[in-house]
Amino acid sequence: SLVNTKEMFQKAYNGGYAVGAFNVNNMEIVQGITEACAELKAPVILQASAGARKYASHTYLVKLVEAAVVENPDLPIALHLDHGASYEICKDCIDGGFTSVMFDGSSKPYEENVEEARKVVDYAHQYNVTVEAELGRLAGIEDAVAVEDDKAQFTDPDQVQDFVKRTGVDSLAIAIGTSHGAYKFKPGQKPQLRFDILEEVASRLPGFPIVLHGASSVIPEFVQMINQYGGKMPDAIGIPEDMLRKAATMAVCKINIDSDLRLAMTASVRKYFAEHPDHFDPRQYLKPARDAIKGMVEHKITAVLGCAGKA
Ligand code: G3H
Ligand code: 13P
Ligand code: ZN
Repeated sequence: SLVNTKEMFQKAYNGGYAVGAFNVNNMEIVQGITEACAELKAPVILQASAGARKYASHTYLVKLVEAAVVENPDLPIALHLDHGASYEICKDCIDGGFTSVMFDGSSKPYEENVEEARKVVDYAHQYNVTVEAELGRLAGIEDAVAVEDDKAQFTDPDQVQDFVKRTGVDSLAIAIGTSHGAYKFKPGQKPQLRFDILEEVASRLPGFPIVLHGASSVIPEFVQMINQYGGKMPDAIGIPEDMLRKAATMAVCKINIDSDLRLAMTASVRKYFAEHPDHFDPRQYLKPARDAIKGMVEHKITAVLGCAGKA
C-alpha cells in the first residue's frame, strides 16, 4: 500500500539497513523497480523530481505509482517528492497524493531554510505526510540548480540539532561527499566520504533517520557497455558500493539512486539497437530496458541497502 516513510525509517534505523529511494519518470521504470522489490520483499520509496513532474506530468506519475500499489498490495511503497524547491511545490504534491516530500532549502540561508521547512512540516503533518529536508550542499547538479565543486559544503554537525528541533522534519539529508550525476569525482581522484561527519551527526541526533543523496555507484560495467555500443561517457565515476553499504548500517535510512538506473536503461537500449538495427517496435527494446532496471534494483537491495525481506 501507499505509505509514508515513518515506519520504514524506524525499522531501517533499528535494523541497520537502508530503504532505496529510486527516481521514477515513466511506466517501465516504475514497473522495473517495483517488480524487483516485490520479489525480494523490500520496502521502497519511489521519488519524483520537478523534472519528472514536468516530463510525465504529476497525474501520470501518481497514477503509475497507484497502479504499482494495486499490482503489489503487500509491498510498502512511499511516493516522495525529490528536491521540492518551495513550500508551494511541496503543498501541490501533498494535495496531489504524495505520501512524503523533500523540501530542499539547502541553497538558502540557514534561517530561511528553517522557516520554510517548518511551514512545509506544519502542512504535511496534518495529512500524515512525512518531510525530508537538507543541510549542507552537494557538489554537482541539484535538480535545476548546478552546484559548483567549490560551492559544495559538507553538513555542519553543529547545526543539525537546532534544525531538526525547530523544523520538526522527519529525516535529514546531509552532505558528506556524495554528489548528483555520473561524474562524482575527477579522474584519478580517490572517492571518499566523510564518515566522521556522519558519525558526529548521528551522535547529535540519536535514532533520527539520515538520507544520502547522490548515492549512485556508476558501476563501470554499465559505463563500459554504453561506450561499447556507441555512447561517450569517459571518466564517469560514482560512490564505491562498500562505502554505501557501510552507511546503510549506520544512521542512513534512505539512499537515493537515479543515475545507476539511467545507466542500466541506456546501456540496455544501446546494446539492443546495436544488435537489432532493423527493429522498431518500442516494446522490443523497452522490455529489456525494464529488465535492466529490475536487475539494477535487485543488485542495490542485496549489495548496498540490505533491505531484502524487510517488507
Ligand atoms: O536529484 C537529481 C535526480 O537525479 C533527479 O534528476 O532533476 O533530472 O529528474 P532530474
Ligand atoms: P544519483 O545521481 O547519484 O543517482 O543521485 C540521485 C539523487 O540524489 C536523487 O535525489
Ligand atoms: Zn538528490
